[in-house]
Amino acid sequence: MPKLPKALQLKLDQRLRNESLRELKTTFPSLTDFASNDYLGLSQLTSVEVTAEKIHQQYPVDAKPGSRLLTGNSQLHYDCENYLADFYQAESALLFNSGYTANLGLISAIGLRQSLILFDELVHASIRDGISLAQAKSYKFKHNNLDDLERKLQQYAHEFDSIYVITESVFSMDGDQAPVEKISALCKQFNAHFILDEAHAIGVLGKEGLSFQNINSLARVITFGKSFAQHGAVILGSEALKSYLVNFSRSLIYTTAISTQQTALIWAAHQEFKKNLSLAHQLQTNIALFLEQVQQLQLEDYFITSQSAIQSCIISGNSACKSIAEALQKEQFDVRAILSPTVPKGKERLRFCLHADNSPQEIKRVLALLKAKLASIS
Ligand SMILES: Cc1ncc(COP(=O)(O)O)c(C=O)c1O
Repeated sequence: MPKLPKALQLKLDQRLRNESLRELKTTFPSLTDFASNDYLGLSQLTSVEVTAEKIHQQYPVDAKPGSRLLTGNSQLHYDCENYLADFYQAESALLFNSGYTANLGLISAIGLRQSLILFDELVHASIRDGISLAQAKSYKFKHNNLDDLERKLQQYAHEFDSIYVITESVFSMDGDQAPVEKISALCKQFNAHFILDEAHAIGVLGKEGLSFQNINSLARVITFGKSFAQHGAVILGSEALKSYLVNFSRSLIYTTAISTQQTALIWAAHQEFKKNLSLAHQLQTNIALFLEQVQQLQLEDYFITSQSAIQSCIISGNSACKSIAEALQKEQFDVRAILSPTVPKGKERLRFCLHADNSPQEIKRVLALLKAKLASIS
């Protein structure tokens, strides 16, 4: 086997030394899930596949591998996008293969040379990568800090043709929420365009889990790998935005279209979501119970304040964090450690993802175990 070039090997060795080497581990299906993004437990609903099959059969097999702009497009894509636009009360919807490619394709396409992108310092890697591909100038604003954002909007309002402000409704690592309405209002005041990534909010926040349905924005990005337990994403916005992206979004144009099977699954998952709204309520009940238990066990100081399905317990240091995760896994709970450099050094954490189908006993037990493990390392 050829050797890895020296510079690459050095980087890998460095990771090993820092105890931050990433590895592809198999999942632990027999353990109680406090790790996946399947917040509503929709992956367990066999009805999704049955419904998807029925949807798929209603359409001729007219798409063949190719870009959406060539042979990859079909009536099923078109009808599913109309369904999704309706579902989310948007003017239009455009499917992408993943949330990563949606953010990449959206941001790199809109970020023209004479424009400015202001983004929360904690946004997801897919947004950052989109920004690095864009020609626009970009500055981060302090996490969830309206004053800092307003200062920057004021400072740059007259310097650029367009200003885009990007944030997430629920932050993927901290689980906290952006002041979305206030950011949207600031954008309106300064004539800036608002882009909101709703990956971890859909199914979790808002009326019937639909999050910021009516927020004033240029685009909302909804990913399907979380509450919908599927693959893919959709960008919601105006018809004009959709047309712009069909023409200029490289991660839509220069890739094989999302398959009709996956499109049918996305459509079916939305139908089943609507039929099972009790899951969104159950998730809320479980989040409330988790928070109550954290308080009862006096663990609040370890946790980042969050009302979402993501509850992060800071355990400084890769080694300590990893060892507590492993101890919880030995006790049959799938809790994952998020290590630096994925999160800043000193902010390593156990990221508890809560689900509609976690039982009260499981929630109480995992937190009692956490308390005991934390005591043993302090
Ligand atoms: C906030 C946010 N946006 C986008 C993505 C990317 O979505 P996908 O997994 O569908 O590529 C993620 C994934 O973790 C995310 O957390």
